[in-house]
Amino acid sequence: MKKILLTGDRPTGRLHLGHLVGSIQNRIKLQDEVDEAYYMVADAQALTDNAENPSKVADNVIEVILDNLACGVDPQKTTFFIQSQIPEIAEMTVFFLNLVTLARLKRNPTVKSEMKEKGFGENVPAGFLTYPVSQAADILFTRANVVPVGEDQLPVIEQTNELARKFNSIYGNFFNEVEPVIANISRLVGTDGNAKASKSLGNAIYLSDEDEVIEQKVMAMYTDPNHLKISDPGKVQGNVVFTYLDAFDMNKTEIEKLKTQYEKGGLGDVAIKTRLVKVLQNIIGPIRERRKELEKNKLKIMQDVLQSSQKVRSIATLNMMEMKKVMKIDYLGF
Ligand code: TRP
Repeated sequence: MKKILLTGDRPTGRLHLGHLVGSIQNRIKLQDEVDEAYYMVADAQALTDNAENPSKVADNVIEVILDNLACGVDPQKTTFFIQSQIPEIAEMTVFFLNLVTLARLKRNPTVKSEMKEKGFGENVPAGFLTYPVSQAADILFTRANVVPVGEDQLPVIEQTNELARKFNSIYGNFFNEVEPVIANISRLVGTDGNAKASKSLGNAIYLSDEDEVIEQKVMAMYTDPNHLKISDPGKVQGNVVFTYLDAFDMNKTEIEKLKTQYEKGGLGDVAIKTRLVKVLQNIIGPIRERRKELEKNKLKIMQDVLQSSQKVRSIATLNMMEMKKVMKIDYLGF
């Protein structure tokens, strides 16, 4: 079976280290291993909870593209496109909505926690509640079966598979099972120790942050509030500096040594933070500089993405025709 990869980001802000380890690294690795790869800017999905902020979404479309390109998602290997340029996704969503119940949508753990985070209560936009259905369409319209995502997206992929199975049970075998690909570090804590790094919490280190900003953010990181003097024994568990060192410092033996020393006492926060600053500057520096270069060609990049979106559209048109045929809504099959 052909391996088709599809992945994407909501354009609601610049991407940060959590995105890098959670999905971008897998995109870069997998684009060499699959038969086809697609990267989608999920602008329509971003609008499901940003209807009143159209500029926020519009302005961040190019930003997430630049972030991915700067990290090494390669347009020669991965076809970039913009969700709203593919009307078939919206069309497919309408049909899929008949295959899922409201109760099931309300039970989706990802949507549930996001609704809580955003404080929607009963006044959730219908488009937001149903975004997993539209995400199933994002994935299935290309017949993709490999989907690298962060851990928080697993319930959405599960719902995609439910929809595919339901569709197949009515109309015959049409869609393949989708396989989520989860990173080793699928969720990066925020610099403040909060479970999730995010723009709204102001606790994320961005792939476009300057060296001074990286330093400031690391120096302000949450460590062990009871580790006051260098000689005090310190906690490694829940210590954000060590969590980040585990994620980004390649020298694992050295990190184990530092952990032992920190737990015993005799290793200060400034020492471990200084190490982390260097590690992160070395990772982000080249990405940020490549990003600056790419930024000079913003217009050309956008033109290219709109053009490759048209290519994706032609695939969508064909797949939609086939889907309508099996759904008995092509009306020519006498
Ligand atoms: N929901 C994803 C996120 O917030 C973005 C996304 C939209 C996506 N459609 C997708 C990811 C399809 C993978 C496949 O990160």
